[in-house]
Amino acid sequence: MHNAAFKASGLNWCYLAYEVRPEHLREALEGARRMQFVGLNLTVPHKLLAMEMMAGLDDSAKQWGAVNTVAFEGLASDGSWKPLRDFAEEAPGEVRSKGYNTDAQGLTAALKEDLGLYLEHSRVMLLGAGGAGRVAALQLAEAGVADLFLVNRTQDKAEALAAEIQARYPKVHVMTTYPHREVDLVLNATSLGMKPGDALPMDLGRFPLTDTKAVYDMIYRPAQTPLMACAIESGARAVNGLGMLLHQGARAFEIWTGRPAPLEVMKAALREEVYGH
Ligand SMILES: NC(=O)c1ccc[n+]([C@@H]2O[C@H](COP(=O)([O-])OP(=O)(O)OC[C@H]3O[C@@H](n4cnc5c(N)ncnc54)[C@H](OP(=O)(O)O)[C@@H]3O)[C@@H](O)[C@H]2O)c1
Repeated sequence: MHNAAFKASGLNWCYLAYEVRPEHLREALEGARRMQFVGLNLTVPHKLLAMEMMAGLDDSAKQWGAVNTVAFEGLASDGSWKPLRDFAEEAPGEVRSKGYNTDAQGLTAALKEDLGLYLEHSRVMLLGAGGAGRVAALQLAEAGVADLFLVNRTQDKAEALAAEIQARYPKVHVMTTYPHREVDLVLNATSLGMKPGDALPMDLGRFPLTDTKAVYDMIYRPAQTPLMACAIESGARAVNGLGMLLHQGARAFEIWTGRPAPLEVMKAALREEVYGH
């Protein structure tokens, strides 16, 4: 999606994927800085490790305690630090890294765009308390949900996350049980549904999907998970996580380029790559 976006924006830039072992992350980041990359993305397990490897952190990275986007800045002759994209003629005196996190914004943008959902005062059941579940729970709290039900296979992790949210967002009513009445959204942040034959990430005996208006599944491959199929059968709206992937990428594009992301171009490229059409 990034290469399509660069092309559509007339930028002679290139986005490449590298596999880096966690023990080599520091050297890889140093190499990118020395080669004057404009920026890069990081994925699991590098998002947490990179926090202490950045020269500076944007508030978004500080807030979530994880970095998924890095932008490099150069020292200009007037003594100011500028994004590397702004160095056309002169070479930067020094280059430093700045870490951002675009994941949480990606989720709220996708919920708004794909489901027309505004989270303020809503009731949400979140399935999963891993890396994605934690960021989702904190972002839901930040967005002002009224009631948040955290359900996770390992109850201790749900309890720890609930305690963190309660401390940071005392207004949010957090429970680590299934809801007793209707909710606006069921959000799946577990990895259940990716593999054929996976069980559902929730117990329909304890909460029927007729009691939710919508289901958002962070999984995007397959395009329709068993949870989404159950939701549709129950009359709820259901969408997959492609929009979240798109919007975290779009925000990264904007950080690197300083321009609005060509969303439709990026969406089409992503669909082509993931689903082949
Ligand atoms: N759309 C996007 O842009 C996007 C972005 C990030 C992540 N994701 C997706 O979100 C999902 C979770 O990612 P993550 O990084 O949070 O992974 P993670 O940190 O490994 O967490 C996995 C979560 O799934 C639960 N789980 C795994 N196997 C299970 C099973 N057999 N039964 C019940 N629960 C199970 C885990 O429960 P325990 O705590 O009990 O182990 C945990 O809550 C993945 O499918 C990933 O692809 C999508």
